[in-house]
Amino acid sequence: MQTVHTIAELRAQVMAWKRAGEQVAFVPTMGNLHRGHIHLVECARELAPRTVASIFVNPMQFGPSEDFAAYPRTLDADSRQLETAGLDLLFAPGVTEVYPRPLEQMTQVTVPELPTVLCGASRPTHFSGVTTVVSKLFNMVQPDIAVFGEKDWQQLVIIRRMATDLDMPVAIVGVPTVREPDGLALSSRNGYLSAEERAIAPTLYATLRATAERLRAGERDFAALEAEAKAQLASAGFRPDYFEIRRPADLQRPNLEDAELRIFAAAWLGRARLIDNWPVG
Ligand code: PAJ
Repeated sequence: MQTVHTIAELRAQVMAWKRAGEQVAFVPTMGNLHRGHIHLVECARELAPRTVASIFVNPMQFGPSEDFAAYPRTLDADSRQLETAGLDLLFAPGVTEVYPRPLEQMTQVTVPELPTVLCGASRPTHFSGVTTVVSKLFNMVQPDIAVFGEKDWQQLVIIRRMATDLDMPVAIVGVPTVREPDGLALSSRNGYLSAEERAIAPTLYATLRATAERLRAGERDFAALEAEAKAQLASAGFRPDYFEIRRPADLQRPNLEDAELRIFAAAWLGRARLIDNWPVG
């Protein structure tokens, strides 16, 4: 595996592959890798002969009171995992390589509407930071395919919309969430949990599953189901942010005729904000 830190080195290698007719699949990450990220790399390897991953803790997607400084940076351990997974190239740029000017002076990419709900309601600048950095990474890497986790379903929907609206020549592929045996979605932020909080954490997944079961059985009082689930999370020790039943493709509130539904949840447990989502049917 090759590791590069500059856009120039990245472009030189990717251009050589493209001249040889080889397609490139790309996995953007913020590092502190777990089996969920590695699974994305494995999927990418099945989709294209060449694979690129990035590790960049993107300051633009963190709010002023969020965990940018504390976000775990574990490049050596991450590199070893990526090498074992058979990745071809790791791109790990520094902040000034990506943002040579102060963030507020940089051009931004913003998708309308979709970022105002769910996580965007409590993190108003987050998704502009994500779409800006992902656009930049797409321009740097110029991948044929980019792979994202369904764990961040709203992010996946927003990136698909951005790629469609801006005619980006990259296919966006979503990959199902990798979980612990007890159902907890793998996340870099799980490391913030104490042993006691870790024992409570799977309740988020269990509550999503239980609500999905009731929807499948025909219950349709969405507001009551949401309120009940939030109360259950609160009594288990979470501080729920949202628990919402929405349409998977456009994240709108469903009406009674909608057949396809997805449930989205975010809740604080200690200093970790956990998110998860689950399909109905
Ligand atoms: P990060 O949180 O590091 O996640 C990188 C990718 O891994 C995302 O596509 C995310 O959905 C996926 N992922 C995380 N946990 C997963 C799990 N348990 N199973 C499967 N996939 C999982 O998401 C970001 O970084 C950033 O916003 C980024 C897109 C890199 C832009 O900065």
